[in-house]
Order: sequence, then C-alpha cells, then structure tokens
Amino acid sequence: MTSLTFRPATAVAGTIAVPPDKSLTHRAFLLGAISDRPVVVDDPLDSEDTRATLHAVRAMGAGVEGSIESGRVVITGRGVRGLTPPPVIDCQNAGTLMRLAAGIIVGQAPGEVTVLDGDDSLRTRPMRRVADPLVAMGAAVIPAEGGTPPMAVRPGLPLHGMVHELPMASAQVKSCVLLAGLNADGETWVREPVPSRDHTERMLRAAGVDVLERDGMVGVAGPVNGLSLPDVRVPGDFSSAAFAIVAGVLRGDPAVRVTGVNLNPGRTGLLGVLQRMGADVTVEPGPDVAGEPCGDVLVRRAPMLHATEVTADEVPSMVDEVPLVGLLGALAAGTTTVSGAGELRVKESDRIATVVELLRAVGADADEREDGFVVRGQMSIPGGEVQSHGDHRLAMLGALAGLVSEQGVTVHGMDAAAVSYPGFTDDMVALGVVAA
Ligand code: S3P
Repeated sequence: MTSLTFRPATAVAGTIAVPPDKSLTHRAFLLGAISDRPVVVDDPLDSEDTRATLHAVRAMGAGVEGSIESGRVVITGRGVRGLTPPPVIDCQNAGTLMRLAAGIIVGQAPGEVTVLDGDDSLRTRPMRRVADPLVAMGAAVIPAEGGTPPMAVRPGLPLHGMVHELPMASAQVKSCVLLAGLNADGETWVREPVPSRDHTERMLRAAGVDVLERDGMVGVAGPVNGLSLPDVRVPGDFSSAAFAIVAGVLRGDPAVRVTGVNLNPGRTGLLGVLQRMGADVTVEPGPDVAGEPCGDVLVRRAPMLHATEVTADEVPSMVDEVPLVGLLGALAAGTTTVSGAGELRVKESDRIATVVELLRAVGADADEREDGFVVRGQMSIPGGEVQSHGDHRLAMLGALAGLVSEQGVTVHGMDAAAVSYPGFTDDMVALGVVAA
C-alpha cells in the first residue's frame, strides 16, 4: 500500500488531457468481442479495470491483437452468440465488467458454467440486481449467498424478452439486460427511475442494432442477426477530468484546461452543480468522438463558493463525482446536502461512509445521512491522514483535499488510483499540485 502526502498550493494551472474513458473502453472491448467485424480500439484506457476486461474478452474466445500500452487494440469478435466463456473470469475490481459480461454470457451457445469472481471489494457488491432480471428472462445466474460474487452464469438457456423496471438508476444493470436482450426472443425493455449514462445504447446503435425507445423506456428486439461495431477511438473520461476540474475551481490561477473530454450529458451533472456553487467553468464543445459529444473544459478559481443541494434526479449523471461535492461543500459558504444517493453505499467502497470519514479526517464538518451526506462549509480545512479503503476515487479525493488544506493530507492507499487513473499524481503535479 502506497502512502503519499499532498501539500497545499496556492495556484494550479495548465492544460492536461485526462485518460480515456473507462466506461467506453469496457464497452468497446465487450461489444467488439460479439461483433462480426474486427474492431480497432484506439486510445483504450490503460488501467487495472480495463486490463481485466481485455483479459476476459480474450478468455471468452475473442481475438486480441495489439496492446493497451501501445494505444491500439484490435478485437476480432466471435459474433453475437459465438463466444466460449471459460470456467472462471476474474473481474478484479471492475463492477462494469462483471455486470455486462453476465448479460453477454447468458446469451452464448450452450457450454460450461462460468464463475464471475473479483477482488475483496467486488465480492461485497450487489449482483442480484443483474441476476434477478436475467433469471426472469430464462437464464441461470446464481450469485453467492448474500447476492454477491462469485456468481455462476450458464450460457445457452433460451431467453425471453421482458419489461424490467429498475428500482435504481444503473447503467450497468440496464446494459446487462439489453445485452441479454440481443439474444432473447422478442422485445426486452428497461425502465429506470432517472436515466443513467447511455453509452451502451449509443454503441449498439453504431453497431447497427435498432435500439428502441417507448414511454421513457429503452429496448432491443431480439434475437438480433449480428453486430457490426465500427472502430472506436476512446475520448477522455469525464470522471477523471472531474478531479482536474475541481482542482481548477478551488485553485485554478490563471486557469486549468482539460482537453478532449467525453461530455455525454449522462455524465456531466457535476458541471451544473459547479455552476450553481458559483464556479467559473467554460465548456468548449468539439467534434463528436465515438458517437459521443466531446470537448474541452476551462476552469478558473471561483472567488467564492456557495453551498448547494444535490438531489436524487441529479445523482445518476454525476454518480461517480458525488464525493467531490463533499470537498467543495467543505469550502463553500453554507450547508451543502446530498440526498437520493443511496447507490453510493454499494460502489467500490461505501462512498457515503468513506467520503464523510475522509472529510472529517481532514477537519471538515460532515455527517452521514442514510442516502447522502451533509457538509457545513468553513473557511479552510486543516488537513490530516486519510485512507483510500482501496477505492480509486477516494484516493484521488484525498489528494485534492491536500491541495486545499492548510497543512497537507497524507493518503494511505494512493495506489488505488490506478484502477481508473494510473497517471493521476503525475498529471496533478504537472498542474502544480505538490506531492511527496
Ligand atoms: C458505470 C456505471 C455506474 C458507475 C460506474 C461505471 C458504467 O455504475 O458508477 O463507475 O460504466 O456503466 P452503476 O451502473 O452501478 O450506477
């Protein structure tokens, strides 16, 4: 476990291109594996999560040439039901891999059972949310007692379309059900309480699948004949950019620019929150990349931040950025509240508990709520020592807390950042963050 201390700095500035999008890299690899034509994936994210997915895709029988490190991977798929999943797939820390792979595997030709497993953190995460709808479609999917991984998945049983009402907004569950729907008889529909990111729908459409919409639901009509996924160039990850953006809001002088970021509206809810809080953020739209809106984000230090209220309808479009609201709230005038964010409890850590623990450890005034948290803003935060709990976004939050603290913050478990953003510390140092 690596510990690193982040010291206060009065200004950060410069231009960075953040790493490629994690959600899109997972999807490009997985949809490439069921495509009828070889897919060139340029600029895939090189991280622990996406390496696990590439490994899984190879283990399921897809051809893989090139390498993530070289910036180009060519996936030769086996068609929509031609994969041969192995007895065990280690999904490591990647919930997206486990949930999307389950939806793909149930639709493959009859074969051996695959056990989807993962690290200690993934082994605590809820899988009934995918097992239940897949079983309702006719599949055999059995998680461990408690509804967590390891999860056994049998390919080859006949699947039937259905309407699945999601109790929570979740792009992973929605994607899982739609992917199973590709190989089901009839129409498979998903309704979410609030729409989540639509990367899977966009990529399926690009691959020639007729993605249906009706009464606020999204669906596919199966069984589909095949997928023809065009080559994918992966744009920058908004969730990684969010750390540089918030560093800019708190200390950007003269400015921080983040280039080539995916600006899918299902991902950028944080920008609206920042604007409400009084931040100086300019979005400069550029050309679409991989069927996704993209552009640059320019941020300057906010003269003053105001407290805000984040509610359930906003959470899905910023689900991975909510921890940053805690830090912003700690330095804003007034009391910031987040509610309707119960899903944070089942992320890579219980992010309601771990965010509040981190904020308190650096001297902020924060309390947990069942489905969110409350932070009473103050002029400054003293600093201290924090634990990442193996959660990449917590590690990076700790680093930003150090930047804006009085005495610095030591982050224990900083290596967790590599799950999504291996070059995080280098990028922050390039902007002027002091780390040792
Ligand atoms: C993701 C969806 C979100 C998000 C995760 C990536 C995806 O999870 O938190 O980091 O790629 O679909 P949920 O679908 O569980 O909300």
